[in-house]
Amino acid sequence: MVIHVCGGIAAVKVPGLITDLRREGADVRVALTGAAASFVSSLSLQALSGHQVYSRLLDPGENLDGPGMAHLDLAAWADIHLVVPATASSLARMAAGLADDVVSSTLLATSAPVLVAPAMETNMWCHPATRSNCQTLLGRGVHFVGPVVGRLASGKLGEGRMAEPSQVLAVAAELLRPSGELTGRRVLVTSGGTREPIDPVRFIGNRSSGWMGLALAEGAASRGATVTLVTASALVPRLANIQVVPVETAQEMLDEVLTRLPATQLVLMAAAVADYRSSAPATAKLHRGDSPRLALELVPTPDILGEIVARKPQSCRVVGFAAETEDVRARGRAKLARKGCDMLVANPVSGAHSAMGGQQAEAVALLADGREIEIPWASKQEVAARILDLAEELLGSSPGSRDPA
Ligand code: CTP
Repeated sequence: MVIHVCGGIAAVKVPGLITDLRREGADVRVALTGAAASFVSSLSLQALSGHQVYSRLLDPGENLDGPGMAHLDLAAWADIHLVVPATASSLARMAAGLADDVVSSTLLATSAPVLVAPAMETNMWCHPATRSNCQTLLGRGVHFVGPVVGRLASGKLGEGRMAEPSQVLAVAAELLRPSGELTGRRVLVTSGGTREPIDPVRFIGNRSSGWMGLALAEGAASRGATVTLVTASALVPRLANIQVVPVETAQEMLDEVLTRLPATQLVLMAAAVADYRSSAPATAKLHRGDSPRLALELVPTPDILGEIVARKPQSCRVVGFAAETEDVRARGRAKLARKGCDMLVANPVSGAHSAMGGQQAEAVALLADGREIEIPWASKQEVAARILDLAEELLGSSPGSRDPA
């Protein structure tokens, strides 16, 4: 694997990433842009990776095998390229196809998968130029991990913080898996918390972020599945290899899910669906002075998971989720039986390790055959990978559930 380090403050996380990778047995080589050298020392990276570091193009002193063509050797040698951190400038250079330093040249010359971990200030990440560069790169098959919302170099909070090294590792591991365990499968994932309107500006919602569903959708796509993500998350991801269907309410989610169900082999119902909605949402904004008290009448929303289990094709496998504050296993078991799905992933959402809204989770996977499998506290990408391993097992016991080629 080659790690391409670009010039941003998140470059200080690269030494830790290399240490973790080497602990996992990876052979890591490092290429640096000129700006990266201001943030992290070449000597440290050399010591940690156990190899010389590549920082100059066409330098006879920096060669892997041949005489001074390091970019071509690195491009051919790597099983995967990680761009960590990917700055706005490095994304722009990749999108433009520049090849004027060892990093850009290697990335242009390779046919191995490329995974970028963007890190920059929110305004730079949201700028139309960066958005368009990301679209271009996604369209060319470049993989993204993050960025996430968090504290930025400026001290402000916002979207643009680099994904944690453990998340980068989990996505890289997914990309390096022998591909195709889910090839030919149609996978439907739901995510986010549904929003049930009170009036045109207010809604009943919950703390779900949509990150778990997104990690499941990305993980399934990287295993070869054809993935649709029906999401009620406010953060609608821009993904090249996943069909994203934005919805707001439980009813809209139900409609979109049922339309796709007949052709689906695996449903991962990670959405936090509101259980109640207002019986009569106001058509105009409610004003504070309109009445001294406001009572809302709430009526139940449809049970999407229940409808899926009742109407699914026989070979389709269904995974439900449950966020519980207490008696996680017992409540999860009861819910698995009540909902009739093949597996239920129960997350504790109280105490220090709450899965709701954050980037990490722990869970216990409860299977209809009685097994209970602990998934320890880890990034949602890693948790998603364990869930997908189990879902693959479920599909394996489901003959005829693969799409004809
Ligand atoms: N779910 C659903 N439709 C609903 C509510 C929940 O499809 N109206 C799904 C969720 O997506 C999740 C599973 O059912 O996969 C369990 O959700 P949860 O809210 O924990 O269960 P509830 O059915 O709401 O039961 P309870 O209120 O007793 O927790």
